[in-house]
Amino acid sequence: MQTHQYEAVIIGAGGAGLMAALYASRHVKTAVISKLYPTRSHTGTAQGGIGAALGNLEEDRPEWHAFDTVKGGDYLSDQDAALVLAEEAVSAVIELEHLGLPFDRTSEGRISQRRFGGHTSGFGGSPVRRACHAADRTGHMILQTLYQQCIKNDVMFFDEYHVIDLIRSGDTVVGVVAININDGKLHVFHSKAVLFATGGWGKVWEITSNAHTLTGDGNAITYRRGVPMQDMEFFQFHPTGIYKMGILITEGVRGEGGVLINDRGERFMERYAPSIKDLASRDVVSRAIYLELEAGRGIKGRRYVHLDVTPETVNRYLAEAGEDRRIDAEYIETRLPDILDFCRTYLGVDPVKEPMPVQPTAHYGMGGIPTDLDGRAVIDGSRTPLPGLYAAGECACVSVHGANRLGTNSLTDLIVFGRRSGKHMAEYCQGADFVPLPDNPAGEVEAELQRICTASGSRKPYEIRAEMQQIMMKHVGVFRTASGMQEALDTVRRLQEQFKTDLVIDDRGQRFNTDLLEAWELGCLLDIAEVTAASALARQESRGAHSRDDFPKRDDEKWMVHTLAYPTDDGGIRLDHNKPVDMSLAEKDERFKAKERVY
Ligand code: FUM
Repeated sequence: MQTHQYEAVIIGAGGAGLMAALYASRHVKTAVISKLYPTRSHTGTAQGGIGAALGNLEEDRPEWHAFDTVKGGDYLSDQDAALVLAEEAVSAVIELEHLGLPFDRTSEGRISQRRFGGHTSGFGGSPVRRACHAADRTGHMILQTLYQQCIKNDVMFFDEYHVIDLIRSGDTVVGVVAININDGKLHVFHSKAVLFATGGWGKVWEITSNAHTLTGDGNAITYRRGVPMQDMEFFQFHPTGIYKMGILITEGVRGEGGVLINDRGERFMERYAPSIKDLASRDVVSRAIYLELEAGRGIKGRRYVHLDVTPETVNRYLAEAGEDRRIDAEYIETRLPDILDFCRTYLGVDPVKEPMPVQPTAHYGMGGIPTDLDGRAVIDGSRTPLPGLYAAGECACVSVHGANRLGTNSLTDLIVFGRRSGKHMAEYCQGADFVPLPDNPAGEVEAELQRICTASGSRKPYEIRAEMQQIMMKHVGVFRTASGMQEALDTVRRLQEQFKTDLVIDDRGQRFNTDLLEAWELGCLLDIAEVTAASALARQESRGAHSRDDFPKRDDEKWMVHTLAYPTDDGGIRLDHNKPVDMSLAEKDERFKAKERVY
């Protein structure tokens, strides 16, 4: 087995991983390990924009951005993190521009900005243009820009190496184990610090905007090694995925003036969010769509509504709102080229001429590996760091997004907290020595791969995966009840048992054995589904993306706390609700105190 030594090892080559690598590599020997070719990372699918209060088209302020983030998060966001995000977003976006990111421009040559859900001016007033964009390919441009910078900075990349275990020596993290997908050989990476930036786990659900690779590997690996998962009950459904396919249709469509329409031709968001309508936060819009579908007002009685960005419709509503602005087909073609392409290719629908069929799609995990503001993984309610372990991006829970993330804040999170983590990691590595590896560091995971490879049961991974995705979609989705979540939890536990005792795969070879690795990923998804369902069942209130029919109100008295889920020695889960939410802004300013959300 080959052993490599790098001071800083980063897992994942999306926006957070690359930003951290760029900063760490300025001071210490840094490697990035990715199961994909780096520029295929999921950041590349982020469309509509990155939020920063630049104020290029109208007045904007970081404190308004922080307020919107806290309110959007239904008051579960740690307020110190929301302030850091909003304040550092401004320099982070300008840094990206200086690194070469080709943002769209205003007529004066400044970075162009558009409206997005929940982003307002003046502490909850009218929608503000805060999303900085490169057409509807903002994430793609971030990825390309940062990858080029990392190459220039001599970051060492291990492409198509799949990390499958974390190595601890007592209380210190000392490296990871990875499999080279090409030849099936195991490699040990010995390091002073490890950062997980492995993205989300949308593949737990049936309809999702997430790519096939979004299986929560980093979260499952660290959990199995004793690190808790935080706030896993909060998983966001983006309101507009392509019907049945789940592919994301950016909120930028509504930012440009697009509207949601039901079978009666009504702009139904006027009823659910009278003030900012289609630009309410995502949890509010997804619930509104579900309620329309439940009431039989889906298009032709089916499980979708229309998203209409045709110039005729948009201009009618712009005129009604008293706005001077008008759009035409060319404007849509320039601002939303990828969306037009997806709809024309996959649906045969031309959004310039006709509306798009959309339904809510599992999109983003607000929870994850708990961290402090510098990306250090913390393992308890007192925020005690685990030496040598860091996390950033979607797999981490800072927690800045609380119970519901605002659109554009994921890209901001990647860049702001990726940068902070990279800086802190470099400092930590400069002051630390390599701690020796334990004996046979890859032994356990090697045995697990061998077990999966030689298993002779009856259930194929895709069968178990489909059953998990269906039950999680049905009972741990937009609306939830105790009985439904219990059914989901029981099903997931039965599937975990089958995964252990009745699995079979077809490919028993060494080279590019995606059959084996997808089975291993399924184990991660099942662990995450179990923690999600258990955390959701325990939280007896409705808040943000966690909406219960049996507990329809938010309960700040009892539930203004984070959930920490720990694995127990007997294979169970221990839930802890003793980690308070940081309310430091509310202590100084009444406007940040928790109140009922009205949009
Ligand atoms: O709607 C979108 O473009 C998605 C952005 C996000 O998730 O932040």
